[in-house]
Amino acid sequence: MSRRIVSVLGGLAIVAVVVAVGLGPRLGFLIGDGEQAAPNGHAVPEGVASPEGGATIGGPFTLIDGTGETVTESSFPGQYLLVYFGYTYCPDVCPTSLETMRLALEQLDPALVAKVQPLFVTVDPERDRPADVAEYAGFFHPKLIGLTGTPEQVAAAAAAYQVYYARVEQPDSAMGYLLDHSAITYLMAPDGSLAAFFRHGDPPDAMAAGLRAVLEGRGSE
Ligand code: NI
Repeated sequence: MSRRIVSVLGGLAIVAVVVAVGLGPRLGFLIGDGEQAAPNGHAVPEGVASPEGGATIGGPFTLIDGTGETVTESSFPGQYLLVYFGYTYCPDVCPTSLETMRLALEQLDPALVAKVQPLFVTVDPERDRPADVAEYAGFFHPKLIGLTGTPEQVAAAAAAYQVYYARVEQPDSAMGYLLDHSAITYLMAPDGSLAAFFRHGDPPDAMAAGLRAVLEGRGSE
């Protein structure tokens, strides 16, 4: 079993335990990758641009899906994009965020889910090759598409979304390094504007309500 799969299973086990004891919203504080976890993810420094701060989120990107096909912001015309940046070796935060996404989508009417294309974009393109992100995304939701690219392509996509990520060396770990990264889930309207966003730790019910409010309130055009 690959370390990546072990990571998923371990992360989900943590999610199950934490949800069972009612601590889901606090997960980000309890178990970060780095020395201390920030509310939005893994030790994201103060001052990083965020939607809370009014930063403009979104823009053009060019990435690669699991089949090696190029995917851009124009690849899903008429669709809302539900975008999350992370990495497949993430021990805790990413599995939690993606499990929350899955549970939220499960609560929605299929007609609303049909309006949404969920995307998982790795911030670890050196380890996460196309087949890796595809396999990882498939653990969480059948519609979730995993995307990677060259380090330059990933950096450009992350910059468009104001996503912070930074490598944290782990010399004593077989994994070699972890990544601190923003952990916000973005809902982009078909016109490319930010329609809503969800913080790490927002419960699935809150994400479902937020998605429903946007998806029921406007058409897909
Ligand atoms: Ni992560």
